[in-house]
Amino acid sequence: MAIIYPDVSRTFSEFLLLPNLTTRDCTPTSIDLTTPLVKYSSGNKPGLKLNIPIVSAIMQSVSNDTLAIALARTGGLSFIYGSQSIQTQADMVRKVKKHKSGFVVSDSNVSINHTLKDVIAMKEKTGHSTIAVTHDGTASGKLLGIVTGRDYRLSRDPLDKKVSEFMTPFEELRVGQLGITLSEANDIIWEYKLNSLPIIDKEQRLHYLVFRKDYDDHKANPEQLLDPQKRLVVGAGINTRDYKERVPELINSEVDVLCVDSSDGFTEYQRDTIKYIKENHDIKVGGGNVVDKEGFMYLVESGADFVKVGIGGGSICITREQKGIGRGQASAVIEVAKARDEYYEKTGIYIPICSDGGIVHDYHIVLALAMGADFVMMGRYFARFDESPNKKVKRGNSYVKEYWGEGSNRARNWQRYDLGESANLKFEEGVDSYVPYAGKLKDNLDVTLSKIRSTMSSCGAKSIKELQETSRITVVSSTSLIEGGAHDVILKESEY
Ligand code: IMP
Repeated sequence: MAIIYPDVSRTFSEFLLLPNLTTRDCTPTSIDLTTPLVKYSSGNKPGLKLNIPIVSAIMQSVSNDTLAIALARTGGLSFIYGSQSIQTQADMVRKVKKHKSGFVVSDSNVSINHTLKDVIAMKEKTGHSTIAVTHDGTASGKLLGIVTGRDYRLSRDPLDKKVSEFMTPFEELRVGQLGITLSEANDIIWEYKLNSLPIIDKEQRLHYLVFRKDYDDHKANPEQLLDPQKRLVVGAGINTRDYKERVPELINSEVDVLCVDSSDGFTEYQRDTIKYIKENHDIKVGGGNVVDKEGFMYLVESGADFVKVGIGGGSICITREQKGIGRGQASAVIEVAKARDEYYEKTGIYIPICSDGGIVHDYHIVLALAMGADFVMMGRYFARFDESPNKKVKRGNSYVKEYWGEGSNRARNWQRYDLGESANLKFEEGVDSYVPYAGKLKDNLDVTLSKIRSTMSSCGAKSIKELQETSRITVVSSTSLIEGGAHDVILKESEY
């Protein structure tokens, strides 16, 4: 007979944290949010750590190079999506590793044959008003000039005016040579009252732009997640099909960590993938997704460096409706964390676990951590920001961004969902949707992190480990959920 679990499958919204004693030294600013990313043995340090317990989802609509740079600069990490060609994924990884704080690869470029109309269209598309003019209209072509809002007057200039007629030509530009430090570039910017400084090589090819507003970049991002060579840290998602070709390319592009991306990780395909990587390469690799002790132990024994937990909880996910498999995210994290702790007791090896999907409120992150997760993975949360790769569109009076599941027809990521046989999705496990546009990643993440710190301070926990060991959590009734929001008052219209 089938095993029927006596416990109900629960999700984060069914729990609340009870406050513990907050001591004077447990202030939000004193709270340490660093957390292990990969396994380590007792007495040793993990080979890779995160400075904040947050990673972005392995999804087309979330984790590209731009988002990865923004997130690593705040202390977290992105896994660049794997549902693209090996080449384009490796290029994205390379871009993150090559990123130098304050040195921006120009995303708005034209050639001299473009027109004012093209310039306006580009400005609208990228939101940037500094446009590089290069011989081939690419970010790395020979620099011929720069166009900014000061170079044209929309009320006077015809839209078909050629860029060559109104750009500031190269001869009149101040430029920096490749190899210049950020502080040297800033000195030039200040001395000559510039807004930006193009950085070129000996052949006059454009490499970066340094902007006046970024001059204190490093001060604004003290938590940046850096490798020993001071480059940003980045991960990549892989599948159980083309790993023999994909993994070497990603390693060539200097990726820091991999994660096998699968909606159901308790499979022989995943075991074989992890084992092969561990036997043939020197790279950390996580596995998942699982929702119980059995799945966790299977991946640990296969060699996983961390394990991702969660099936069916993602905001765009319809796996539970389509296939009837999954588990409430809280129940899954609680059981896997228990198995992880038992394994640690027995072997002295600590396997970090990641709670993936279903985070709706910021306090859910603290709940996931308190229940034993070492970090969380989020998709919907990041899809809302400027840095995510999806389109921003106007709906009614507000802006939204597109957000689609990897199991939707749109993503066509059949490697993540198919269990071995066919090369096509037979049915969808995810939807195509909109999320409210929310602006810059850093602005939003700063608020989320201060809420996390404040909740941890109420729980009297100065670190994630302390939170896991000392927090007290209670199940809430549906009636007390109503009590948790504003109630029995007439709300004033929001003024903002
Ligand atoms: P969210 O943060 O609640 O939006 O969940 C993101 C997570 O949902 C991802 O990290 C994946 O684990 C999962 N996911 C992504 N695409 C799909 C899909 O199409 N169907 C089911 N789950 C998905």
